Amino acid sequence: MGIRKTKIAGTGSYVPEKILTNADLEKMVETSDEWISTRTGIKERRIAAKEEAASDLAYYASKEALQTVGIKPEDLDMIIVATITPDMVFPATACILQQRLGAREVPAFDLEAACSGFLYGISIASQFIGTGLYNNILVVAAETLSKIIDWEDRNTCVIFADGAGAAVLQPSNDNSRIISIYLGADGGGADLVGVPAGGSRMPASFETVRNKQHYMKMKGNELFKRAVRIMVEAVNISLEKGDLDYEDVDFFIPHQANIRIIQAVTKRINLNMDKVYVNLNKCGNMSAASIAVALDQAVKEGKVKRGDKVVLTSFGGGLTWGSIVLEW
Ligand code: COA
Repeated sequence: MGIRKTKIAGTGSYVPEKILTNADLEKMVETSDEWISTRTGIKERRIAAKEEAASDLAYYASKEALQTVGIKPEDLDMIIVATITPDMVFPATACILQQRLGAREVPAFDLEAACSGFLYGISIASQFIGTGLYNNILVVAAETLSKIIDWEDRNTCVIFADGAGAAVLQPSNDNSRIISIYLGADGGGADLVGVPAGGSRMPASFETVRNKQHYMKMKGNELFKRAVRIMVEAVNISLEKGDLDYEDVDFFIPHQANIRIIQAVTKRINLNMDKVYVNLNKCGNMSAASIAVALDQAVKEGKVKRGDKVVLTSFGGGLTWGSIVLEW
């Protein structure tokens, strides 16, 4: 972990006001509350307003995290925004956020690791704090997936949603610390979920717009199978690195893609569902923001307490995955 111990000193989150229910979706595509509830576990999700971009959600989540920790924007040494739905291709959403927060001219950059973005961000931040280079790093995961969803595609529009979660990382002088980190990726699964057009492979054209290639495409079934296997493996490796067993785990915060994935993983690591945080029933899949928002909610609800050993585990597009064990 470098020379110094690192901790998540505090968190914040923000979800947009607008609630989209399964009943609302029944009016938009050929689907049913019954199908969505039983196949995914989602009942409702939050959708950003037309004028709301990722940096807006990131701003509210960040303000809260800074307030929780009791530091000012000018105390920040670095800003990392994990997102697959940046305000624009470039400049980075992190730079837009830096300006809006009134932070100093500190390094600010975006990180694209899909649903694993928050864990990748925490990992990067912890290295800079571990070496002693920086003392206060803001890691924000902010997504406005509603903007890249084809609202006529029932395979994706019932699943994805908007939200942002933020964390401030600092050096630790007590037991509260990041215990272990495991990250991975497999570009062999790159075709399983993504947005085909708008990059250098398939630049935007009338044709790409007409063919709806700027929207997210997903092979859900293929992802499902890999998600369970890879998340279990990731939990195992991160626990092993931390010299811990399943029975040491007080709380588990997995990525919120599908309740059936969460249940299958939880069963395989011998945990009871009462030790697992679930917010996808109310928040859907917010990609990078899912774990970030869930961690903040779990802390606010008193489900994650001082001294708890918490495991955060992700899996998503790329493919990317990660698992972080920490003591809160
Ligand atoms: N309403 C009703 N029916 C739907 C539907 C919807 N919203 N979406 C899909 N269906 C249909 C399909 O068309 C298919 O019908 P068919 O058999 O006539 O072709 C049927 O339901 C089963 O589809 P399938 O894709 O096999 O369902 P599934 O059980 O795999 O569930 C997901 C679909 C997307 C919920 C599930 O695969 C999943 O959660 N995958 C993981 C996603 C993930 O981890 N993503 C990570 C990156 S964020």
